[in-house]
Amino acid sequence: MRILVTGGAGYVGCATVETLLAAGHAVVVLDSLVTSSRGRLPAEARLVEGSVADRPAVAELLRSERIEAVLHCAARSLVGESMRDPGLYLRENVAGGIALLDALADAGVDRFVFSSSAAVYGVPERTPIDEETPAAPINPYGASKLALETALRAWGARGLRAISLRYFNVAGASERSGEAHDPETHLIPNLLAAARTGEPVTLFGDDFPTPDGTPVRDYIHVLDLADAHLAALERTEGIPAGLTVCNLGTGHGFSVKEVLAAAEAVTGRPIPRTVGPRRAGDPPVLVAANERARTLLGWTPRRSTLPEMIGSAWAWEQRRGEVPA
Ligand SMILES: NC(=O)c1ccc[n+]([C@@H]2O[C@H](COP(=O)([O-])OP(=O)(O)OC[C@H]3O[C@@H](n4cnc5c(N)ncnc54)[C@H](O)[C@@H]3O)[C@@H](O)[C@H]2O)c1
Repeated sequence: MRILVTGGAGYVGCATVETLLAAGHAVVVLDSLVTSSRGRLPAEARLVEGSVADRPAVAELLRSERIEAVLHCAARSLVGESMRDPGLYLRENVAGGIALLDALADAGVDRFVFSSSAAVYGVPERTPIDEETPAAPINPYGASKLALETALRAWGARGLRAISLRYFNVAGASERSGEAHDPETHLIPNLLAAARTGEPVTLFGDDFPTPDGTPVRDYIHVLDLADAHLAALERTEGIPAGLTVCNLGTGHGFSVKEVLAAAEAVTGRPIPRTVGPRRAGDPPVLVAANERARTLLGWTPRRSTLPEMIGSAWAWEQRRGEVPA
């Protein structure tokens, strides 16, 4: 298959590009490099620098590269930034995404996989969270993901066959791609930074109604996520027009303190911590029900253990030369 990966120079996109290439697919990456750099992309993937919002240029790219399916990873994805500047998130993630869908229609491409997020669920009433759980995002980032899903449903009338993958907490590293967001808000890279620098990491609350008082989250290895993208891209051939949503998580949660202890074991270093107040809108437990991903995609997470996720992230940081010998 000939696949366009938007945002393919980013953390998730690049790990997925590696998996798609290894499966024998041809990959073109469209990325504005606004939160990434070209450095980590494998040489076999052609990089086109530009924005998904540029409808004529994207339509021309789809035609000239004879693209059959699009994986849309490009987005702004910082919750705090989305609270401060909601317009940026609606322009980039929603208006930009709609321009991309128009370009697909212009070029006659009808297969689409979308990087969505568990943020669409907001603070759900029950857990594990299945796809029928009402979507009620509590920040503009989650709202932007839900809005593009609404657009995908509407584009079904134009023949688009779309799968939206609602990721839970992505973690770990591939050969070339690990987490390097700026600012970094995710737990595991921040724990590894604390192990490296000795600067304490802040735990946001230890009085939640969970066994050890810290929040429980569902972590998924970025290479398990990449496998699910490969399966979803292949699956878009056989589904009816319209939108199919699908959670991507393991169905099992780890508490912040469990992740911290595992990071100390992997790095062999103590991780200094302080306990701060809870963050607004942080639920005690967020765990995915993943039966749909298992049946629809024939997918099983294989590497999403704490030692594998944290170990691969730590090894990736060492390969980048960020850890003193
Ligand atoms: N990492 C996670 O834990 C997580 C969880 C849920 C959902 N997601 C979603 O997965 C996707 C990838 O996340 P990530 O962690 O790899 O982020 P990232 O910031 O590393 O990657 C995003 C990529 O998109 C590119 N980009 C942004 N706007 C663009 C535009 N208008 N045109 C072209 N390229 C553009 C950036 O330059 C970057 O390379 C995002 O859609 C994000 O919302 C990520």
